[in-house]
Amino acid sequence: MKAFGIPCVALVAGVLSAVLSAPCHSEGVSFARDIKPMLVQNCAACHQGVNSPAGLDLLPKVVHTNLVGVRSTQSAMLRVAPSAPERSYLLRKLEGAHLEVGGQGVTMPPGARLDPAQIGAIRQWIAGGALND
Ligand code: HEC
Repeated sequence: MKAFGIPCVALVAGVLSAVLSAPCHSEGVSFARDIKPMLVQNCAACHQGVNSPAGLDLLPKVVHTNLVGVRSTQSAMLRVAPSAPERSYLLRKLEGAHLEVGGQGVTMPPGARLDPAQIGAIRQWIAGGALND
């Protein structure tokens, strides 16, 4: 999960002709490939079904719908504000900066942290418009 996009950047920097002849797919973050599996694996053990904590169900079918453009139950922020990582409560909960914006509870996942590269990928996905791609 580390170094998203690095092979692609190295390729662009190193061998421009190779990039032109072979389309580069690792450039951006894909929700389906990079973000969804990470959230389901680390979060859905608790965040599943109608009794999900904080009303947030993160099972695969609903994970995008329940995050993007949806108001947080713990704060006045959106869970994910497309193209605006700084206005996305999800990132705050992952970084432990949620209390600063009037949020509640503990950093997610409780008692642990996602890898900085994983949080970086989520930030990049949000900055890119939080697409369901
Ligand atoms: C061990 C169970 C557990 C796990 C695993 C877990 N959560 Fe939570 N989550 C909770 C509980 C309980 C709350 C409500 C209390 C709190 O915030 O501390 C919560 C609240 C939240 C909220 C606030 C929702 C809102 O609308 O304000 C977000 C966002 C969140 N979790 C995201 C995640 C993410 C993303 C992961 C995985 C990286 C995750 N959680 C993993 C139990 C869990």
